[in-house]
Amino acid sequence: MAEAGTLHDAFIDELRDAYDAEKQLLKALPKLAKAASSPNLRQAFLTHRDETQGQISKLEEVFASLDEKVRGKHCDGIAGIIEEGKSVMEEDFDEAAMDACLIASGQRAEHYEMAAYGTLVAWAKAMGHDDAADLLQQILDQEEAADEKLSALAEGGINQEAASTAHPQSEDGEQYEDTPARPVRTPLKKAAGAGRGASAGVARKSGGRR
Ligand SMILES: [Fe+2]
Repeated sequence: MAEAGTLHDAFIDELRDAYDAEKQLLKALPKLAKAASSPNLRQAFLTHRDETQGQISKLEEVFASLDEKVRGKHCDGIAGIIEEGKSVMEEDFDEAAMDACLIASGQRAEHYEMAAYGTLVAWAKAMGHDDAADLLQQILDQEEAADEKLSALAEGGINQEAASTAHPQSEDGEQYEDTPARPVRTPLKKAAGAGRGASAGVARKSGGRR
């Protein structure tokens, strides 16, 4: 019977997974950049593409430090995340909404990678693979910085711009009448007998009397 695998085997397996994930992202990031309308967002994706190239080299150093051959193993997790990102890009969203969605897709990938590298760093440390731990920590730091950059772009304007298109406001802060998402401001008299929001309101009311 074959000997049971050890944490070291699992570690090498995870490294191969991460190596493949980076290679997939190297191809996906330019597509995200191309789909972005905000110049800052486009640049963020391209900068991270260059970082990803560097991360691939760092992982090759990790393999070397462990006397292991450089090898990838298909990463199904990141493939799924990239696939979802592609479906989003095929949608017909307004520019700001698309940018907000691209950020969401990018952050899913970053968080997946952060989880993977967090584990890899911890395992490398536990097994005394200090050089590997050091290199993997450098990659983890880059992934975290990329994630924070995306949050900053989303919260620094893109989300608000997308939200303003979804819910336009008049100058005094009231929502325009023709905005689809207006049920809160719709007077009851006007709403009676018309529209989905109105019937929902009536249903709630009669429900309360029971
Ligand atoms: Fe990465």
